[in-house]
Amino acid sequence: MQPRPPRFQFATDLTICRILNGMWQVSGAHGAIDPGRAVEEMFAYQDEGFTTWDLADHYGPAEDFIGRFRREFAARRGAERLSEIQAFTKWVPHPGRMTRRIVEDAIAISLSRMGVECLDLLQFHWWDYGDRNYLDALRHLVDLQHEGKIHHLALTNFDTERLGIIAEHGIGIVSNQVQYSVVDRRPEMRMASFCREHGVTLLAYGTLLGGLLSEKYLGRAEPQRHELDTASLRKYKNMIDAWGGWALFQELLAVLKQTADRRRVSVANVGVRYVLDRPAVAGVIVGARLGTAQHRDDNTRVFGFELDEEDLARIEAVVAKSRDLMAVIGDCGDEYR
Ligand SMILES: NC(=O)c1ccc[n+]([C@@H]2O[C@H](COP(=O)([O-])OP(=O)(O)OC[C@H]3O[C@@H](n4cnc5c(N)ncnc54)[C@H](OP(=O)(O)O)[C@@H]3O)[C@@H](O)[C@H]2O)c1
Repeated sequence: MQPRPPRFQFATDLTICRILNGMWQVSGAHGAIDPGRAVEEMFAYQDEGFTTWDLADHYGPAEDFIGRFRREFAARRGAERLSEIQAFTKWVPHPGRMTRRIVEDAIAISLSRMGVECLDLLQFHWWDYGDRNYLDALRHLVDLQHEGKIHHLALTNFDTERLGIIAEHGIGIVSNQVQYSVVDRRPEMRMASFCREHGVTLLAYGTLLGGLLSEKYLGRAEPQRHELDTASLRKYKNMIDAWGGWALFQELLAVLKQTADRRRVSVANVGVRYVLDRPAVAGVIVGARLGTAQHRDDNTRVFGFELDEEDLARIEAVVAKSRDLMAVIGDCGDEYR
């Protein structure tokens, strides 16, 4: 058994585990999930210190799983210990007019599904910057925050320009959740410095490229579409293609493996450590196919080693050969627009 991961001060009154458990993996797009087994396994994550969950209104039953987990946790361990669980959800509305009623009703659904009176963190996503109603939505969310329905307000997949506009409107957010990995380093181009200046942190996803960033794919021939059996693997295979292709990715995996061997850890550990050490990053979200597959022991090793200048230089030598994703795709989140 590994030591428990250390805690991280995410906000003045909120600590998290720096590896968050990603619940997109229970949505159905990553294979079937048995609800009973999934909720039971949430106890194992919690007991080993992985207490922080990332979910969304549209991740299938994820919010309901949090509700059920909390009920069973309260029954077995006592309601007074429920604050040991941090559940960060998202609201991903269709663009259009954002009235108080629309916003309030959406938040009420998440509160009810998760069985909480106040959301620990609400991460807001917006599909279309041509539609400026996102500012109205955020103003209503701030009101709901003042009314005690939302503890901390956050964003996901917003670009640096829009972060600036939101800050200019006096709307305070604590974090922005973005894709961030050794392959996709767009957040450090513009976003990270903005975040540091404005006291905003980043929560990273896609750090393990759906599992592609691991020994499992080292030395493997380029997988065909039909072999990629989760939505994550398909999503990040596209990202690797845009970044530089499979041959360059194999070079990267080989260098990560050398580093991993030197540190007696895994390729995934090196990938997560790399992102955790980047400016403004508060945590890395690692997808968890609850009840199907788990890597808790391995992921705990992330907290037991460091990357030095030589490790980083070797990684940089490979990454320098890739395309500039900022030029190919745009700033953070532009892949969704
Ligand atoms: N805001 C957004 O737009 C957005 C978008 C995508 C994801 N997310 C969030 O980020 C979370 C992560 O999702 P993701 O798609 O980015 O996936 P990911 O975390 O890059 O990959 C998750 C997969 O990596 C594998 N893995 C985990 N630990 C490992 C280890 N130590 N060694 C080897 N393999 C390991 C597992 O594969 P196996 O299960 O096959 O073992 C796991 O299912 C989501 O659940 C969600 O919460 C947010």
